Amino acid sequence: MTAKQLKIKVKGTLRDLLAFKNLAKKRMQRFRKAPATRYSSLHVNDLAARLHPASQNLVIKEVRDETKSSRTFTLAADREAGTGEIAYFQAGQYLSIRETVEGCAITRPYSIASSPADALNGFYEITIRKTDKGFFTGHVWEHWKVGRKVVASAPMGQMFYSPLRDSRRIVAVAGGSGITPFRAMAREICAGGIDASLRLIYGCSDEGDIMFIDEFREMAKAHPDRFSFVLVMSCDEVTLEGCEKGFITGDIIARHSDPGSDSYFLCGPDLMYDFVTRELVSLGVPLRRLRREAYGEIKNPSRFTGYPSGAEGKTYSIVVHGRGKTETITARGDESVLVALERARYAPPSACRSGECQFCRTLLLKGDVWVGPESDGRREADRRNGYIHPCASFPVSDLELELPTAGTREG
Ligand code: FES
Repeated sequence: MTAKQLKIKVKGTLRDLLAFKNLAKKRMQRFRKAPATRYSSLHVNDLAARLHPASQNLVIKEVRDETKSSRTFTLAADREAGTGEIAYFQAGQYLSIRETVEGCAITRPYSIASSPADALNGFYEITIRKTDKGFFTGHVWEHWKVGRKVVASAPMGQMFYSPLRDSRRIVAVAGGSGITPFRAMAREICAGGIDASLRLIYGCSDEGDIMFIDEFREMAKAHPDRFSFVLVMSCDEVTLEGCEKGFITGDIIARHSDPGSDSYFLCGPDLMYDFVTRELVSLGVPLRRLRREAYGEIKNPSRFTGYPSGAEGKTYSIVVHGRGKTETITARGDESVLVALERARYAPPSACRSGECQFCRTLLLKGDVWVGPESDGRREADRRNGYIHPCASFPVSDLELELPTAGTREG
């Protein structure tokens, strides 16, 4: 050790000893200065409650037709109902909307389509596409008008940019209404709130149903270094110029991104997830560079390999222990256990409806369920101890369940 190094070491040791010697003295000074009364609440707890409220009472401020089948709803804090301000979020997260439809208490996750900066200005936007057989979207079209009150969860979900985890070049692959979280990301990136660039590959099957196209064009023009997009049209007749045609294949992805280094974020129908994930894996993209939005329940489980043939056409019985009683309900094989519970006026806690958030964790006492290959978000210990996520589980035999005591509501 040189003389200089020795001097630095001695100085450092003396400084540490002195700091330790003064520690008790300084602590006593702080105790004496502290107010005699206890704090009514802790700042850190207040902040946590503001960022992660158990629920948010919102009110619809504006309704706008986005395309021929989709509408954007602007939601603000409903102060009359006790929500003073809306919670901040990360671009890419969703709200779980809680509504009672035809007597059933249900939840639906919708990505926030506005930016985090908009939340600081007091509003969220969610954009909903109406589906032909949509139990919930039909209700929304009929009842969601300006002034209607809506209850939502805090912002949730894991599909957001993290500089420690993700490449600074994000490639978003969106199908249909799965575009909404990427509008939030694009706005945030163009506003400088995220130090990354976004290349959007957006698949649509109908020119009349492309969401936010004018806004995307403007952003791409104003911020070419931060945002760009390519449309992939799968309809027969395409009049728009500069589009790719067909489905979002590996070839198209490779033409518009660098599979060797980019991070890929996916949001869209479950069929698109399966197909695009396979294409990305075949391009050599490791799963650690792939993020997928939880996007609701599996539709039509029988198209998955591994789903027992014929189970979708059957009806099963479920013995339910919950809310202080035991009763038997029926369940269709092609609907999740959560839907069967909600139809029977049980409302176990739920948010993502994709097997990810664990809110609906329930003990399966008897019987078998089928769980989609990409939606089994259970912890290993839960899996071994017989817990299921009803939102991601489909009955393939008669069942017996014990519902969670906390949070199960009357439907
Ligand atoms: S609702 Fe999220 S895991 Fe079931």
